[in-house]
Amino acid sequence: MRIYKKEGNTVEILCFPSEKVEKGDYLFIEDPKANRGLVTQVVDVQFANVPGILEELLRDSTTDDYVHGGNFDPLEVSSHINHIQDALVLICKIRGAVQNGKLLVNPSWLPSRSKSKIKRLPITSLLTFVKINEDLPIDVGETKEASVLAIDARALDGKLNIVTGKKETGKSHLSKLLVLGLIDYGATVVVLDLNGEYVNLGFSSKGEKNEYYDKVHVLTSGANLKVSLAQMDLQVMLNILVHALNLPGTSTREFRRIWRFLQQRQAFTLQELGEAIRNWKCNQHVRDALFSRYYSLLNSGFFTDNLAEATTFEELFQKVQTGGALVLNLRDVSSVDRQIVVEYMLGKLVELLTEWKMRAVFLFAEEAHLYLRETYWDDIVTRMRHFGVFTTFVTNQPDTIRENIYRQADNIFLFNFTNERDLETVSRAARVDSETVKSIARDLPPHYCLILGKAVKDFPMVAKVKALDVQTMGHTRLFFTDKD
Ligand SMILES: Nc1ncnc2c1ncn2[C@@H]1O[C@H](COP(=O)(O)OP(=O)(O)O)[C@@H](O)[C@H]1O
Ligand SMILES: [Mg+2]
Repeated sequence: MRIYKKEGNTVEILCFPSEKVEKGDYLFIEDPKANRGLVTQVVDVQFANVPGILEELLRDSTTDDYVHGGNFDPLEVSSHINHIQDALVLICKIRGAVQNGKLLVNPSWLPSRSKSKIKRLPITSLLTFVKINEDLPIDVGETKEASVLAIDARALDGKLNIVTGKKETGKSHLSKLLVLGLIDYGATVVVLDLNGEYVNLGFSSKGEKNEYYDKVHVLTSGANLKVSLAQMDLQVMLNILVHALNLPGTSTREFRRIWRFLQQRQAFTLQELGEAIRNWKCNQHVRDALFSRYYSLLNSGFFTDNLAEATTFEELFQKVQTGGALVLNLRDVSSVDRQIVVEYMLGKLVELLTEWKMRAVFLFAEEAHLYLRETYWDDIVTRMRHFGVFTTFVTNQPDTIRENIYRQADNIFLFNFTNERDLETVSRAARVDSETVKSIARDLPPHYCLILGKAVKDFPMVAKVKALDVQTMGHTRLFFTDKD
């Protein structure tokens, strides 16, 4: 292999097919004299465009068809020409440099074109060199060379992460793996589980209870998740009314008064609330507006007057304080009810975190655009993060996540995308150049994931995500049964 060109942070390297270099591989360009070298990653493999090759190919193809008998090659150059025809150019991105045994990020020098030695850099040596799995490793899977790829749980701590890719490529699977990895280290995890896929994390694939059985608590709105009005904070209630149920401003002001009235009478029940709205002296339109929201609250099944069956989040979070997950099952919940529950849950989270009843929470949100209100997006990367809510968004529609979230993301776990537009969206992520994203993500097989960001210290790596021995749910209901 030899250096051909360098432009910006792209290096082009000439190589022959016998050297078997693939996309995603790391190459080390060593400048032996200066005792330094560049760490580069192959992002694309192209044919070398040698002048005259087109002519040679055309001549070849005409002789193939018309001339029979042995090839006349008195000077024995044909093997040489074939060799050149197959020559490749590797488009590589500079990821870092090593100088006197130390890793640098932005090298300002160029290695010698004539003297440099280029060799494959095995991922294992790269992993040990950049110290990716320091003291809290979460085993994600294996690299192409079949060595273990583990990321440090600290790389998720205080961070914003995105897991994205096409349907069925293994996003939820990886999220489950991360959830369990975090639980192993005693973290508190909250999952907003849109399709009811995480509810069986406590069971092995055979259906037996596993080590996580006592640590995973599934909450289903209306069943084992209900709250009483007395537990409710006025602000959270207003958030529900305004954001989930679109209550207009004037009615919101009336509601505030009604709430104070109930507070004075110490009568926080649904029935009292209904009575109060009925007898309240106000405009008929306002009353109608309040009543329609009141019935939405009633019908959601999320509220109860029976204090014995009301869920106390303080207790729930106590249970997962030293490692565990609360899985909010949003499957078969209508979109309005979903918003009500999520609004309540996030309100409660912030409340407990501000009072320091909890240290921090890792929040996993599947297809968040279906239940997260507009203003939460910015909140999650700024205010909520400050309080200790560290979010991982999981989605197969990358354009539902705002661009500023991509810019703020610390880690991106990228599965296959073939759609140009989706790739374009993800490639705007500030942590890596768009060529890497587009070129590598397009060729990823299912269950393979390109990890970008702090978890791999900005050395993008492809991992084959390992299998999990937990019961996977969400089998699609089909009409035709399996052949066997
Ligand atoms: N690394 C893996 N090893 C084994 N099975 C996997 C792996 N990743 C995903 N699967 C399986 O593939 C299917 C689709 O994965 P899933 O995570 O639900 O995809 P997505 O969330 O991207 O739609 C599931 O049945 C899951 O169990
Ligand atoms: Mg999924």
